[in-house]
Amino acid sequence: MVQLTLPKNSRMVTGKTWPKPEGATNLRKFSIYRWTPDDGENPRVDTYFVDMDDCGPMVLDALIKIKTDIDPSLAFRRSCREGICGSCSMNIGGINTLACIYGMDEVKGDVKIFPLPHQPVVRDLITDLTHFYAQHASIQPWLETETVAPSKEWKQSIEDREKLDGLYECVMCACCSTACPSYWWNGDKYLGPAALLHAYRWIVDSRDENTGERLDDLEDPFKLYRCHTIMNCTKTCPKGLNPAKAIANIKKMMVERAV
Ligand code: SF4
Ligand code: SF4
Ligand code: FES
Repeated sequence: MVQLTLPKNSRMVTGKTWPKPEGATNLRKFSIYRWTPDDGENPRVDTYFVDMDDCGPMVLDALIKIKTDIDPSLAFRRSCREGICGSCSMNIGGINTLACIYGMDEVKGDVKIFPLPHQPVVRDLITDLTHFYAQHASIQPWLETETVAPSKEWKQSIEDREKLDGLYECVMCACCSTACPSYWWNGDKYLGPAALLHAYRWIVDSRDENTGERLDDLEDPFKLYRCHTIMNCTKTCPKGLNPAKAIANIKKMMVERAV
């Protein structure tokens, strides 16, 4: 487990227990965080039972089944159901992950589902990631060049292209940043592992001509150096990426250019 805290605006009360589906013999119990901004009620945890003989294998399948067959008011984000869009990130059994690629068999016992921790909740399992996306934009996640653009394409050797492996696959799900204690306490100023992984992705891109400025911009007591190598980010990344290593590589580049 990578985190134990509840989302912001949590003062939990016991919620509704929905009836078990009739005739089902292979039931799984789901405890799901519920909160709506417009009813004046405290957050609660509702209980649902899903017939696993009539449900797909992933946690997202169960959420869709609950919404379709039991409670249409349950709100969550999803789109691709292939681990590509990053929108179904949530906390399942204490782990920040993507519901569409997280198998029900990976969860022991009852399935407890909460929004990503330490983020404002918009509704139910949907968090407000406005600040997270703004931090991503702040690292200028695009190619910066000064030389005249080639007529066809910016070329890159196979070796240089390989330096982007393990970085370009990030789907911006925010699982890592919202599992990071430093981000919980200093998220207003610390960029967090996702934005820093993207910063490194552009720093090491052989085609980019803004490396010095990119490093200058990160030379800050909060933006970069609030990472204390706790490694929650790498442990939780559902795409198997290593943001902690990317951050360590940026710090190493800072030292190397200072000597
Ligand atoms: S390694 Fe750094 S970024 Fe990752 S969880 Fe720890 S403090 Fe946060
Ligand atoms: S590094 Fe992993 S956990 Fe973090 S945003 Fe990217 S895909 Fe999600
Ligand atoms: S629905 Fe797109 S990553 Fe899960």
